[in-house]
Amino acid sequence: MFDFALPADTSDEERYRELANAGDSLTDGESDAVANMANLAALIWSFVPDLNWAGFYRVVDGELVLGPFIGRPACIRIPFGQGVCGTAASSGETQLVEDVHAFPGHIACDSASASELVVPVIRDGQVIAVIDLDSPSKARFGEADARGIEAVAERIATRV
Ligand code: SME
Repeated sequence: MFDFALPADTSDEERYRELANAGDSLTDGESDAVANMANLAALIWSFVPDLNWAGFYRVVDGELVLGPFIGRPACIRIPFGQGVCGTAASSGETQLVEDVHAFPGHIACDSASASELVVPVIRDGQVIAVIDLDSPSKARFGEADARGIEAVAERIATRV
């Protein structure tokens, strides 16, 4: 059994360090990308509070395709350049969106989502997936969250 619950007063720095370490050990030695993304989505869900969606979109034949996630069913395919996820994929840059309703072209999968963080997973210089976190709270994500999920993406880039 894996029990990764952290005390509520854990600092962001500590929270994301623990998440990256847990993600590293849970995917170490496992070559199945789906299994690894499923466990990573579950880990993000249990480590990061105040989320309503957490998971992966993978780059398949030049577009984003839904991968393992926790949350409500979501749109399956997102073209590069569209929505928050497609913008992260085409730019290769983290997207930190305080208010999704103010983001031009935001794709609403769950009406509860108010803010969003999307981090590209880069392997050999190519975006191979994005990690998408949605929150029902406005401005839920800040720089610590962005840097924390980027560290996770870096650690697991060869395993998804
Ligand atoms: N909001 C995203 C779509 C994916 S869902 O949030 C799960 C976007 O605008 O790309």
